[in-house]
Amino acid sequence: MHNTTMQPLLSRKSRGLTGRLTVPGDKSMSHRALMLGAIAEGETVIEGLLEAEDVINTGKAMAALGAALHRDDLGHWHVRGVGIGGLRSPSAPLDFGNSGTGVRLALGLMATTNSTARCTGDASLSKRPMGRVTKPLSLFGTRFETSEGDRLPLTLHGAGDAKGISYELPVASAQVKSAVLLAGLNAAGETTVIEKVPTRDHTERMLKAFGAKISTRMVDGATHIAVEGKQPLQGQSIAIPGDPSSAAFPMVAALVTEGSDITIANIMLNPTRTGLILTLQEMGADITIENRRSAGGEEVGDLHVKFSRLHGVRVPPERAPSMIDEYPVLAVAASFAEGTTRMEGLEELRVKESDRLAAVEAGLQANGVVAQSGPDWLEVHGGGAPGGGKVKTHMDHRIAMSFIVMGLGARIHTTVDDASFITTSFPGFVELLNGLGARIEAA
Ligand code: S3P
Repeated sequence: MHNTTMQPLLSRKSRGLTGRLTVPGDKSMSHRALMLGAIAEGETVIEGLLEAEDVINTGKAMAALGAALHRDDLGHWHVRGVGIGGLRSPSAPLDFGNSGTGVRLALGLMATTNSTARCTGDASLSKRPMGRVTKPLSLFGTRFETSEGDRLPLTLHGAGDAKGISYELPVASAQVKSAVLLAGLNAAGETTVIEKVPTRDHTERMLKAFGAKISTRMVDGATHIAVEGKQPLQGQSIAIPGDPSSAAFPMVAALVTEGSDITIANIMLNPTRTGLILTLQEMGADITIENRRSAGGEEVGDLHVKFSRLHGVRVPPERAPSMIDEYPVLAVAASFAEGTTRMEGLEELRVKESDRLAAVEAGLQANGVVAQSGPDWLEVHGGGAPGGGKVKTHMDHRIAMSFIVMGLGARIHTTVDDASFITTSFPGFVELLNGLGARIEAA
């Protein structure tokens, strides 16, 4: 359970961040590794699992559904799976805390089994739309009793006799894509997801590694992903590299704090996740990728980042899925850049852990930055001297981390009202940055 005490924090300018660091394991891969391990045959061993609240909640849900999990002395997680279709009904509601990925993917995983499950989440997650997954999953015959507006809490009644479906994604969402593919695993015949805009493909890659029959082909510019149902998965050994969405925070902190020179080692560089690095480089950031290699089916590298004088750019809408979680911290980088940065295609930011467009705009303005937003765009006019504000974080870990980063490069310190949600994705964030020379303290 999340500790509900508010944790205000203050961050102020330091003499620069220096050193070599690693960040915790990738969140998307961590959820998926636990879930595929739970329905595979035999044992899955996971090295580098993100031990943060969101992922721990997924682990608890998998245990409640019948998988056996334990952490060994080396910190590796072992999951003994129940086989495709083997999930049982949990005896108590599954609490997914703050995590949209956790609940949406788990709904997919359970949709074509015989289980019945009540799913809940915290106040933030209970505001987020679940219709985007309950709608396609209903096509398998799964029944849902949802709260008003297709929200949590909800009860799922799985359809153990489901047949495969074909579904074209109405929204660029890897969570929706993944939920349908996971449901397809225990449906008879083939399940196809049609994706017009590419989104992160960790589900597809990991399914392949577990031995699923999954294929991807391009038809008229759209990606058709087909998975064959009722095929057993085999437990695997998985090494999870550092999360690029977590690396984004020390990366921007170094770029905006004079005197900084850091190396963030072992970061996953899947091309569906690297939009922020590309955008920052276009803004003039000194970021070099060193030691590029392949590990566990993903591209990995070390990011060498130095303080840089940035300039504004236009970020095109088609880039949004490859950096969807990084716009809050990009907006902070943009507030230090010379000129205007315009970001487009941001409609999905409205339905994240908070309405991130509104939260970012308000946070920038609180710190004296001129910013405007529309339904799906944000414009940040940089070049001033941001800082001095108090930011409302709305139960959103990335809003908290973004504005803590702002304070490190700002002339006047910045305060966030609640940093407690950082533990949902990045335990040890404050200690890690302070170890590089940051000055973050309780407010
Ligand atoms: C995720 C997909 C993204 C992202 C989220 C993690 C995933 O959400 O924002 O943090 O692991 O599939 P959408 O696919 O809904 O955009």
